[in-house]
Amino acid sequence: MASNQRFRSIRVCYNFDMSSRNKNPDMFRNFRVMLAPMAGFSDSSFRAVCRSLGADATVSEMISVKALRLGDKKSPLLMKFTEAERPFGIQLFGADPDDIAYGAGYAEKNFSPDFIDINMGCPAPKITGSGAGSKLMTDPVLSGEIVAAAVSAVSVPVTCKIRAGYHETSADSFSVILEQNGASCIFVHGRTRDRMYSPPVDLDIIKKVKEAVSIPVLGNGDITSAQDAVQMISKTSCDGVMVGRGCLGDPFLFGRIKAALNGLPVPDEPSLEEKMDTLIRQARAAVEEKGESLAMREMRKQAVYYFRGINGAAALRADCVKLETLDDLAYLCKRALALRSFYGKT
Ligand SMILES: Cc1cc2nc3c(=O)[nH]c(=O)nc-3n(C[C@H](O)[C@H](O)[C@H](O)COP(=O)(O)O)c2cc1C
Repeated sequence: MASNQRFRSIRVCYNFDMSSRNKNPDMFRNFRVMLAPMAGFSDSSFRAVCRSLGADATVSEMISVKALRLGDKKSPLLMKFTEAERPFGIQLFGADPDDIAYGAGYAEKNFSPDFIDINMGCPAPKITGSGAGSKLMTDPVLSGEIVAAAVSAVSVPVTCKIRAGYHETSADSFSVILEQNGASCIFVHGRTRDRMYSPPVDLDIIKKVKEAVSIPVLGNGDITSAQDAVQMISKTSCDGVMVGRGCLGDPFLFGRIKAALNGLPVPDEPSLEEKMDTLIRQARAAVEEKGESLAMREMRKQAVYYFRGINGAAALRADCVKLETLDDLAYLCKRALALRSFYGKT
């Protein structure tokens, strides 16, 4: 062990006080199904839609504490949210405990989220290259120090979103260190960093994390149906699930999962009218927040998902890349409905 690592280890143990550091873990036991953070997708407008359709909580896109500290103007914009998105967490990434403490304190003071989440799962080389994201899973001591720094800087709970491991699965022993340093909940994406997004998700490691810690654990990865969510919970005993790609263009998935988890009949898939109404609602909220030009450019990739599986979708999706205004989108939605009348029910 390098001497600086040993020093860090001693510092973490010195700060250790379990009774007061894992703040309000019970809040997370109510999160049976929540929206996963997705940079470029889970903005305020999408989060509000997901929450209104059954997601129990939402998280911001990841925000660089280094950039924030250097005065980047875009980072605070990513922290903005509306009351409709609560319970809401601001997700930070970085590899320096002081930067993380600064970012967490800044987020709490200026935006009052319900929790701060630390990204320990991002596999992208531009993030891992700086030692952040999933790279932190190769340095449990530094990771513990990062959690402890965030916990000391804010009054709200601090959570960690991790992967199964970096090269090898290590999430269970890693989570124990996060818990000891004050994390209130762990979100586990059941794939190592090396496996990026390739299936299948390792349910066994999610189960091991749940067994290793007493704070709540939410499982994540490849949930695209109510049945997937029920299966993840029954096979891992995790407290809830976090849904990412499966809800893109289908935020109604949260309602279906919620019903299944409550033992109720799972609602049918939404009608095309409901889908188009929801897409327009999301776009309106995005325009209100960001202005039409930026919002509609960003809505292009979201709209593609809403048009998935519709007859004639290829032409509609091709036109999504040209969206400039809300009127353009309303016209595309009308075309989708007209195509449905032409081809019959989709
Ligand atoms: C486009 C995209 C952006 C993502 N951005 C983030 C992010 O900002 N923070 C994070 O912790 N995870 C991020 N993730 C990972 C997801 O939160 C989630 O862990 C992963 O997609 C697996 O879940 P899923 O199979 O339900 O999509 C992102 C994933 C995707 C596909």
